Amino acid sequence: MTAPSDRIRALLVENVHASAAERFSRAGIEVECVDRALDADELVKRLDGVQILGIRSRTHVTTEVLEQAPGLQAVGAFCIGTNQIDLPAATARGIAVFNAPFSNTRSVVELAVAEIIALTRRLTVQNDAMHAGQWRKSAKGSHELRGRTLGIVGYGKIGSQLSVLAEALGMRVQFFDTADRLALGNAQRCLSMDELLADADVVTLHVDGRPGNSSLFGEEEFARMKPGAIFLNLSRGFVVDHAALRRHIDSGRVAGAAVDVFPTEPAASGDPFESELRGLPNVILTPHIGGSTEEAQQDIGEFVAGKLLGYLSAGTTALSVNLPEVQLERSPGTSRLLLLHQNRPGALAHLNGVLGDGGLNIEQQILSTAGAVGYAVTDVNGEVPQSVIDVLCDMAETIRVETLPAA
Ligand SMILES: NC(=O)c1ccc[n+]([C@@H]2O[C@H](COP(=O)([O-])OP(=O)(O)OC[C@H]3O[C@@H](n4cnc5c(N)ncnc54)[C@H](O)[C@@H]3O)[C@@H](O)[C@H]2O)c1
Repeated sequence: MTAPSDRIRALLVENVHASAAERFSRAGIEVECVDRALDADELVKRLDGVQILGIRSRTHVTTEVLEQAPGLQAVGAFCIGTNQIDLPAATARGIAVFNAPFSNTRSVVELAVAEIIALTRRLTVQNDAMHAGQWRKSAKGSHELRGRTLGIVGYGKIGSQLSVLAEALGMRVQFFDTADRLALGNAQRCLSMDELLADADVVTLHVDGRPGNSSLFGEEEFARMKPGAIFLNLSRGFVVDHAALRRHIDSGRVAGAAVDVFPTEPAASGDPFESELRGLPNVILTPHIGGSTEEAQQDIGEFVAGKLLGYLSAGTTALSVNLPEVQLERSPGTSRLLLLHQNRPGALAHLNGVLGDGGLNIEQQILSTAGAVGYAVTDVNGEVPQSVIDVLCDMAETIRVETLPAA
C-alpha cells in the first residue's frame, strides 16, 4: 500500500460531491472526476493505475471489473447501499469497501417532520383546493402537533432522531422496535406494534430492509390504527401493502399519508411512475428523496473520503462494509504491516513467525476476524524488508499484504 503522500490515484465517478475530491487532494492524492456512471469496459480502462475508486449507485463493480483492476485497494460507495458492488469478490481480493450509512439520517428526519405537520394541518388538501380555485376556510380536521402522539416503528438511527425532534415540537412519542433500544427523552417503549397503533395519531415506519419486514404493514395494521390517524413510510417500499393503504384512505379511516418509497421504483429520473396511491390530495408522494439533500451529499463525500484516507494511511477498517473492523493508533517510529488472510487456525502464528525470522520486533498488534476473513495490523520496529513481504505473500492463507512506512 502506498501512503497518501506518494501520489496515489483516485477515480471518482457519478458526480461524487466535490467535498471528497477536496479531501483527497489535500492529502496529496491525484484525483480524476467523471460526472456519469461508467460501464464495465470504460471502468476497467480508467482503473489502470488507480488505487481508490469512488462510485454512487449506478456504477457496477463486478467480479470481472475487480479481476482487471489489480492495483485497486479500496472502493468508496458514496451512497447508502452497496448492492452495486460484488462484496464477496472484493473481500476475496482484500479490497476494502466503505459507504455512508449515517450521512442522510437528518435529511430523512426533517422530511418526516415536514410531512407530519403538512398532513396534520391538511396543507396538501388545502393547497389542492386553492389551485383548483376553491376557497375552503375551515378548521375541521386540522390539528396542532402539540400534545398529539407520534408512534415510531423502528427506533434506529432515523427513528430515534425523529423522536428527539418530535418531542421538541411538543409531541408525545411512543416507539416499537424488535431490538432493545434506549428510549430518548420522554419517549415510551411499546411492547408490541398493536400497542403503538392503538394510541398513535401519527404512525411512521423507520424499519430496516430485512426480508422478514416484507408486507409488515397491511390490511390488519391499518385497521388497528386510530380512526383519523396519519401514516408515513420513508423506510422501504416492500414493507407496506399500498392497495390496503389506498382502501383505508378512500374510506377515511386513515386521514392522510406520506410515502417516499415504493415496492418497485422507476430506474431513472424522468421515467414514468405508477402507483395505486396516485391522485389522492391527502397523500404526499415523493420519489425516494428522504435522504436527498445537498447537505447529505456533502456529508457523504466527506465521510466516505475520510474512511478511505483512514484505510490508506493506517489500514483502519472501522465501518468497512466487507472487511473485519480494525482501528489501531499508529505507534511512533514503527512501520505498519497489514495482512488480510483466510480465517484459519495458525494464521497469526505464521505471520509472527515470519516477522521474528526476519528480525522484526512487534511493537503492537491487533487481529479481527469476520466470517472467512481475518485482518491483522502489526506495527514493527524498522522498515519491513521485501524478503519478509515476499514470504508473507507466499503463505497459503494470505489474501493481501500491504506495508505503510514509519509514522
Ligand atoms: N427514504 C429515504 O431516502 C431513506 C434514506 C435513508 C434510509 N432509509 C431507510 O430508512 C430505514 C431506517 O434507516 P435507519 O438508518 O434508521 O436504520 P437502522 O438500522 O438504524 O434502524 C432500523 C431499526 O428498525 C428496527 N426494526 C427492524 N424491523 C423491525 C420491525 N419489524 N418492527 C420494529 N422494529 C424493527 C431495527 O431493530 C432497528 O432498530 C431503512 O430501511 C433505510 O433503508 C430511507
